Amino acid sequence: MIPAPEIEKILFTEEQIQARIQELGTEISESYAGREIKLISVLKGSIFFLTALTRAISIPVKMDFLAISSFGSSRAAPGVVRISKDLDESIEGEDVLLVEDIIDTGLTVRYLLHTLAGRQPNSIAVCTFLDKTPRRLVQVPVRFRCFEIPDRFVVGFGLDHNQLYRNLPYVAVMKP
Ligand code: IMP
Ligand code: MG
Repeated sequence: MIPAPEIEKILFTEEQIQARIQELGTEISESYAGREIKLISVLKGSIFFLTALTRAISIPVKMDFLAISSFGSSRAAPGVVRISKDLDESIEGEDVLLVEDIIDTGLTVRYLLHTLAGRQPNSIAVCTFLDKTPRRLVQVPVRFRCFEIPDRFVVGFGLDHNQLYRNLPYVAVMKP
């Protein structure tokens, strides 16, 4: 696919993404062998990763979704989020895997982990597609991740810039 003009370079191709997700699916299936997991995906960005990941997991999976909205611009109040669409079902007693598209400062995941942990799951862990570790402000336990990335703004495979580019099958760096 020809990149859009706003795109500087492709970071991970469709093939690289697919191969890495396959590995991660195996790793998750082995870690939770004999159990059932509930994948919780944060709308909208992580649904692309979620659907690919579930097909690479061989143990039984359930899915549920939540959406969050930030208060104002993330620069003005980083990490101040609220749940705008909650889960449909209880997670009590379940082995929960929180599936994220990208962890940047870590503030969103910290908030979600704290909120979900209060609902008595049997266990809760984080699985992220991309991990922008150089930008981390708070430490969050990341159990599974596909790729670490540098401090650049990326789009594609679910990640957006003003709601665009989510449908790109690769991950690309935007021009500054
Ligand atoms: P946090 O800083 O870890 O709380 O992440 C906040 C959110 O910022 C992520 O869930 C993404 O929606 C968004 N985000 C951070 N970095 C990028 C990026 O490079 N591309 C697209 N969205 C991003
Ligand atoms: Mg997000």
